[in-house]
Amino acid sequence: MKARRALALPGGGLRMSEGQRAPIMELRGISKRFGAVQALSDVNFEVYTGEVVGLVGDNGAGKSTLIKTISGVYQPDSGEYFFEGRRVSVTSPRDATALGIETVYQDLALCDNLDVVANLYLGREKAASGLGVLDEVAMEQTAKRVIGELGIPIPSVRSQIGTMSGGQRQGVAVTRAVMWTARVVLLDEPTAALGVTQTRQVKDLIVRLRERGLGVVVISHNLADVFDVSDRIIVLRLGRRVATFDTHAANPEQVVGAITGAVFGSAGGNGPVAMA
Ligand SMILES: Nc1ncnc2c1ncn2[C@@H]1O[C@H](COP(=O)(O)OP(=O)(O)O)[C@@H](O)[C@H]1O
Ligand SMILES: [Mg+2]
Repeated sequence: MKARRALALPGGGLRMSEGQRAPIMELRGISKRFGAVQALSDVNFEVYTGEVVGLVGDNGAGKSTLIKTISGVYQPDSGEYFFEGRRVSVTSPRDATALGIETVYQDLALCDNLDVVANLYLGREKAASGLGVLDEVAMEQTAKRVIGELGIPIPSVRSQIGTMSGGQRQGVAVTRAVMWTARVVLLDEPTAALGVTQTRQVKDLIVRLRERGLGVVVISHNLADVFDVSDRIIVLRLGRRVATFDTHAANPEQVVGAITGAVFGSAGGNGPVAMA
């Protein structure tokens, strides 16, 4: 999958659009402690529209804590949150959703006994109210259109979720997250439980999200997947952002080095600027 979006790094420079455009979402100086554990220490994080950021790090590095902070599940002990350049207050998942920040967790939270259409509209009664009384025909048409646009390979929008493969379920969960007003989507280990073909489908989907102009953040243990789909790679280690890579200019050894702490190379840490 080489359809990596050229984010125009002039002169082969590695600087990520800085000065040309602002991140759609940016967190600055985020710290979060759980009892004796400093899960995040002064972490900056940013994502641009039409960009896929791979968020990587060893177990316990703070990836999930950062995602949950972004999505309003956790409140940081300190730090600032900006959306479209404005300082915002995100004190609940509802606040994040209102901004257009959607998170797909590993459990996917789908209802096995319901079909695709019902799952897409679950908990979205308000968003669907433009359709008048929940109009089954309109709901099904919208579901078909979005599923088709995103290329989710399912037999029918009337198939029950419980009959589907892991890749199809992931596709439906992502579709539900982005079909309303999403601007940024956070995916926590979207390919962890998937085989080769399904992983490919999910990676294709991630590329399509980027093409639609979303900012996409993907947590993954699989560096090959991260290299396939991301534009930048941000490395957390022991709660700190220790490195940032421009994916096309990096190699897996460098990223592994940053993850394990074996390499203290040129990879810049806590900023929106890639390695110099
Ligand atoms: N709810 C929690 N209560 C206590 N400690 C936590 C909690 N969540 C995470 N931690 C700790 O914070 C650190 C970062 O965890 P986490 O964000 O889950 O890392 P990752 O997702 O990168 O594996 C770990 O040491 C973990 O044990
Ligand atoms: Mg985690």
